[in-house]
Formats: sequence, C-alpha cells, structure tokens
Amino acid sequence: MPAPASAPAVRFDAVSKVYTTPRGPLQALDGVSFDIAPGEFFGLLGPNGAGKTTLISILAGLAHATQGQVTVMGHDVRADYVAARHALGIVPQELVFDPFFSVRETLRIQSGYFGVRGNDAWIDELLEGLGLADKAGANMRQLSGGMKRRVLVAQALVHRPPVIVLDEPTAGVDVELRQTLWQFVAKLNKQGHTVLLTTHYLEEAEALCSRIAMLKKGRVVALDRTANLLAGTASTMLRFKTDDALPDDIAAQARVTGRIAQVTAHDAAEVETMLGRLRAAGVRVEDLEIGRADLEDVFLEIMQGQQ
Ligand SMILES: Nc1ncnc2c1ncn2[C@@H]1O[C@H](COP(=O)(O)OP(=O)(O)O)[C@@H](O)[C@H]1O
Ligand SMILES: [Mg+2]
Repeated sequence: MPAPASAPAVRFDAVSKVYTTPRGPLQALDGVSFDIAPGEFFGLLGPNGAGKTTLISILAGLAHATQGQVTVMGHDVRADYVAARHALGIVPQELVFDPFFSVRETLRIQSGYFGVRGNDAWIDELLEGLGLADKAGANMRQLSGGMKRRVLVAQALVHRPPVIVLDEPTAGVDVELRQTLWQFVAKLNKQGHTVLLTTHYLEEAEALCSRIAMLKKGRVVALDRTANLLAGTASTMLRFKTDDALPDDIAAQARVTGRIAQVTAHDAAEVETMLGRLRAAGVRVEDLEIGRADLEDVFLEIMQGQQ
C-alpha cells in the first residue's frame, strides 16, 4: 500500500488499550492522539505505569490497540504491518538477545530479518558510533549490561529505519554510554531520522527533544514544544536548606532531598509570598537560591495537577 506523501512519521489516533487481567480489565491507554512530524526529536514522558511501553508495543505491532489507529510513515501498523515495521527501528526497554552469537553475527541476522544483505559498511559505522568496534567478535553473553544495551541500539538500526524509537534506553546505564548514545542518536536525527524517546531522565528530554508529550494513567496530559512547556508552567524555582519542618501546604508541593527543599513559583510575587509564608511558619531558610525551573519541575506540577 503506498503511503500518502505528506504523512506524519507517526500518528496515534484515539488509541485505547484495555488489558484483560486476572483482576479484571485494565485500561492502559485512554484515547491517545498525537502526531510526530518527519525529522522531529519527540519525547514521551510519564511515570511508571503511565502506558509508554504499551503505546510503543502497539506502534511496533507487538500489541494491538483495543480502539484507534496507528500509522508509521503513513502505513497502518495492522493493515500494512510489514511496511510499518520496516520504517521503524525499536530499542526495547528490556534486554533481550541471543547469547550464542557474536555482536557482528547478531547484527547480520537482524539485517536478514529485514531482507538487508551486504550492509557490513553500515554495521561497521554502527559499531564505531556506538563504541562497539572492539567488541564485534565478542559473544553476546560476554558483554556487560551496558555493552548489550549498545548492541540493542545497533540492532534496531541495521535496516536504516526512518523512525527510531527508544524506550527508556538509558535506564540504569552509565554516564559514558548515555553520552555515546545521545551523540549518535542526535547525529541520526540531524541526518533526518525521526526519533521517539521515552525516558525517566527529564534533563535528557529537555536537552534533546523539540516536543514532548506527557502521559499519565494512559492519557496525554500535556503536549507542547519543550520550550513552551518550560515557559508555560512554573518558571521560577526556590532552592534552600532548612532543618525545620515545612508547613503542610508547602511540603505538599515541595521536592525535598534531605535538608534541601525545592519549590516552584510562577513569578516574583509568588516567590515573595512563599518566603513570607516560610518566615511566618518559623522556618529558618539557609543558602537560598532562586533559579529557572527545569522540566522536572514542570513535570511534577503537571502530574500533581492531574489526579
Ligand atoms: N501485558 C500486560 N498485561 C496486563 N497489564 C499490562 C501489560 N503490560 C502493561 N500492563 C499494565 O498497563 C499499564 C501501563 O504499563 P506500561 O505501558 O508498561 O507503562 P510504562 O511503560 O509507562 O511504565 C500498567 O498498569 C501495567 O501494569
Ligand atoms: Mg515502560
């Protein structure tokens, strides 16, 4: 089936998913709709259980939506499965691999699944770009977790898919791998590949993604350009140390780590009000800093506001 020329890279149209579980039906997705344009670097954020992996499984054809439609480069993921799957490179959240093959064999086998042959130059480029060049001959079972994760990324890219999907690729991996990975993925994005990323690391999403959707309990609760999300909600952050207990209403909206508390405000007047309330409550504030809110503050504000 030919795809319409002006198709979005990915389209989710009123997607719902109800899992049948021993404890009854579980609604994992509830009317999710958004488009990702060709060439975008798009972030899908949300707490555990929000439905991110379910949405990606439906995109990959590994699960079926209960309702709604999903297309990749204009191809319906069910009616036109093969074309849709070929347009996608998916790095799964779970580490799955065959321990008996070497890294290069694993990548050649994966190429074969997509009917691609004679792509050793591209495989070498992937190995080089992902810091795997000296591991090409190593057996998968000899690799550390971080190295296996790199192979999963290479595996997803062997057929040069126009759309790259990464489901929490940096959960629990070291800083070096994160940097290698982001450099490589950012380069592919510059070359025109569309990227869909789910992550818990909000600073990564803030640095990389031009647009972000936030998912909560299976619904999109925010969808905007990253810059607008940062500008539109609380934009100022107060950070201070204290040994005193915060008043309940402030504690409810604060991020507290040991002696350090962080609260957000929308403008200077709100900062003054906040400080006044702390003073009135007898909270002694040390090392006060006032700065710009980051995506994590926005995320918490949106998640708290959407029960
Ligand atoms: N195969 C499944 N069967 C039943 N329930 C599932 C299945 N996969 C996920 N869920 C449930 O669906 C919800 C969304 O899960 P998931 O898509 O994995 O969220 P996320 O990736 O955002 O953490 C959760 O409540 C989860 O327990
Ligand atoms: Mg997940």
